[in-house]
Amino acid sequence: MNTQQAEKKVFQLRVEIERHNHLYYIDAKPEIPDREYDRLYDELKELERQFPLLATPESPTMRVGGQPLEGFSQVKHSVPMMSLANTYSTTELDEFYQRLSKLSEGRTFSCCVEPKIDGLAVSLRYEKGLLVLGSTRGDGKTGDDITANIRTIKSIPLRLHGTADEIPAVLEVRGEVFMTKAGFIRLNEQRIATGDEAFANPRNAAAGSLKLLDPNTVAGRPLDAIFYGLGETQGLVITTHEGLVQTLRKLGLKTAPRIWHCNDIQTILSAISELQALKQTFTFEIDGAVVKVNERQLYDMFGSTAKSPRWAVAYKYEPERAETILEAITVQVGRTGVLTPVAELRPVFLAGSTISRATLHNISEIERKDIRIGDTVIIEKAGEVIPAVIGVKMELRSGREKIFKMPASCPVCAEAVSKAEDEAAWRCENLQCPAQIKRWIQYYAARGAMDIDGLGEAIVEQLVDKGLVKDPSDLYKLTLFDLVALERMGEKSAVNMLSAIAASKSRELWRAIFALGIRHIGTRSAQTLEDNFETIDDLMQATTEQLTGIRDIGTIVSASITAFFSHTQNRNLIERLKAHGLQFRRTARPASGTSMKGMTFVLTGTLASMTRDQAGEIIRSLGGSTSSSVSAKTSFVLAGEEAGSKLDKARKLGVKIISEPEFLVMAGRSVKP
Ligand code: IVH
Repeated sequence: MNTQQAEKKVFQLRVEIERHNHLYYIDAKPEIPDREYDRLYDELKELERQFPLLATPESPTMRVGGQPLEGFSQVKHSVPMMSLANTYSTTELDEFYQRLSKLSEGRTFSCCVEPKIDGLAVSLRYEKGLLVLGSTRGDGKTGDDITANIRTIKSIPLRLHGTADEIPAVLEVRGEVFMTKAGFIRLNEQRIATGDEAFANPRNAAAGSLKLLDPNTVAGRPLDAIFYGLGETQGLVITTHEGLVQTLRKLGLKTAPRIWHCNDIQTILSAISELQALKQTFTFEIDGAVVKVNERQLYDMFGSTAKSPRWAVAYKYEPERAETILEAITVQVGRTGVLTPVAELRPVFLAGSTISRATLHNISEIERKDIRIGDTVIIEKAGEVIPAVIGVKMELRSGREKIFKMPASCPVCAEAVSKAEDEAAWRCENLQCPAQIKRWIQYYAARGAMDIDGLGEAIVEQLVDKGLVKDPSDLYKLTLFDLVALERMGEKSAVNMLSAIAASKSRELWRAIFALGIRHIGTRSAQTLEDNFETIDDLMQATTEQLTGIRDIGTIVSASITAFFSHTQNRNLIERLKAHGLQFRRTARPASGTSMKGMTFVLTGTLASMTRDQAGEIIRSLGGSTSSSVSAKTSFVLAGEEAGSKLDKARKLGVKIISEPEFLVMAGRSVKP
């Protein structure tokens, strides 16, 4: 390929990739499977490697990367970033509206009501359509230059959409960076699994992420952004807030999922309560509604106070809270030995469910809030999902409440606990602690790791308590006899479990690396390691220089890998796992293709060589799709063992039924005897 051809191809790929980014991150309607997207991305990356002159900062491949920053430089905002006045009652809102009516001097105006996103205010500057600067609000006049981190957020376009005459010469757009509720939960699960402290709520997680100096780490954080305002602009005429939102949307920026247009205070109030009712359905947290005047040409007339404009106000929703009695504090031991105090509460109903336990994070948190056993505490659903104790009703104290002390020994194995100076957490250092082993085995077998179906908490508890399993390698020694002796385990499930355990031996290398539980290694970094090392032995022998030389692997992760493999017991574990037949070797990636394009599969029953999810992945990688119910449009029903009613339906509708070996042949896979 000559440079000219490459340039054309690079351009096409960029347009195509950004289109898919938009479909995926903004419209939430992806058109192609992840693997196909990865293929486009890899092709672009390869071309940019071969033709370095074609690599430009607005290429989608440049979303991640670069050296970690020493610190953030400061940015002066050309138009100050103000904040909003808060109101908590409809009376105050009424007053706000009355004031507007007075200040408008008879001119008609309307209002918009939109979600107040609970994230961090940012300002982005686009020049000639290219993202040139991203900054935090700071004190409103000067903020931090977080361009490198902003560029990693996939829903933010690096280049605005539209033709040259639609793109303003300068556009400074203001909005909110946030973490979705689901992304927050996933991130915390991962952090707990890798021995890091969990974030208290999505806002803190977003703030913590944006403040990271290494954009590579930020890229792994599930951040998103919604825009609602303007800073400096050149070449842009916008008269209403509604028009602004429409324009931003057209330029490829994400905007609020719902905006109400209101002509009087009654409609404003009903929009606010509609929004409150809808708030649970949003993928992100909101902490109120923002009411703003729609007619932007009136903004100057309304003016502002030192801190906030008079044409807008925030109506804050009270977070859903409840009061209950803290009956006890128990201590949980995590996979890495971290001791987490847990509040055992008198059950209370809060935002849709009954709460009887809540996290207390760590001992310093308990001390800081002076939480004592027997206290009446206030609980809140952080992230609307995870309940947390946020404070104590001091006035209700009787004096009989007890101060909680972290136990000096592990509540599970009774070994001494310790606390590293630079950490908030106490740990049980005993690697043989049954609690740690249980969490470890569950982690090893988890879906995102070795994916051993059926090996849930109750089974793991019994296996460890009976002394049958002390580390993951013992799973491969289990016999049918061991398993049927467990409670709630029939012969059939025992057979299935044995085959699920056996199937885990041929999982991808990255899963095996992740499942080892090396601190700071999440699925993403495990995949990066697989990309760079053929076998686990190669990884074990890797030097620090080799590791830190890998994009996305920083010094902390590298040190953690080296530390893990320096322990004899870890190396021995790998040897034992190998002796049981684990490959610890990169397998050829299934080629993506189009051989199943346009075909719809329904999967039913248990497959022998893979899970249904894995079969689905293969189908999607080959351009096909899956569906959960059989209809006349179904191309094939893939039937495993014990297939149920879907088979009958397929027969009735005359849909072709195929077996697993037939499927493997169709997918171009070798069929194992
Ligand atoms: S308008 C002149 N609209 O709330 C200030 N702000 O408490 C214009 N926020 O600093 C802000 N959602 O970070 C506006 N839909 C929304 C918002 C929003 C969240 C944040 C923003 C602001 C803070 C004020």
